[in-house]
Amino acid sequence: MRIGLMDSGLGGINVLKEFVKKYPNNYYVYFGDNKNLPYGDKKEEEIVSLANNNIKFLESFNLDMIIVACGTMSSQFDKLSSNIKLINIITPTKEYLKKSKYNRIGVIATKRSIESNAFLMNNKLVIQKAAIEFVPYIEKNIGDKETILHDNLDLFIDRVDCLILGCTHYPLLSEDIKEILNVDLIDMGKVIVDSLNITNDSKQEINIYFSKLDENTKNNVNKILKDINYNLEQKELN
Ligand code: DGL
Repeated sequence: MRIGLMDSGLGGINVLKEFVKKYPNNYYVYFGDNKNLPYGDKKEEEIVSLANNNIKFLESFNLDMIIVACGTMSSQFDKLSSNIKLINIITPTKEYLKKSKYNRIGVIATKRSIESNAFLMNNKLVIQKAAIEFVPYIEKNIGDKETILHDNLDLFIDRVDCLILGCTHYPLLSEDIKEILNVDLIDMGKVIVDSLNITNDSKQEINIYFSKLDENTKNNVNKILKDINYNLEQKELN
């Protein structure tokens, strides 16, 4: 299979890692638009336009499917257009949770994702919080980690049975989040790979493009993908 993934930056690399772990023998192409990051604070129209541009780039790779490995772009999914099968990351997460044992569900995500109400489920109590400081901290080390974590997580203590990491960047803080909130964390990347059934039918090849490739990004990709082999290049879209 030929699979494309896209995100505003590093977050979707977590999702790519889950795909490669479960379905190693495939062709993968990834686009991270970190030049325009963060998407989570932008207006809907801008997110949709950037997302459609990212899709156009990925379409040139003759793919079987494109995974929208970003909560923010997935929250605008009905406005995205593609000639290739497009799969968003929020729907499988909600499908999984609707059938789960969890009744009081916490969600942290970007401002735009929370405002879209894309994570609400009619048979569950959902408590939401826009964790706007998380992405700048993860990508650029901005802010004090402990303050950011407590400011965004304390309201969930004793109120939820699980917490959706509603932005694909957040699994990079899983261990820290667990120390404050001792509940199950829902990683959308893990949920989406389990919801799909993909054949492993070719040689493994992974091509990763970022719209701004600096040393920090290179090191972060390397840290997440560890022993996996990949090609990494800069690609600015018009
Ligand atoms: N990783 C993205 C998400 O899942 C977006 C982060 C951002 O650019 O604000 O929402």
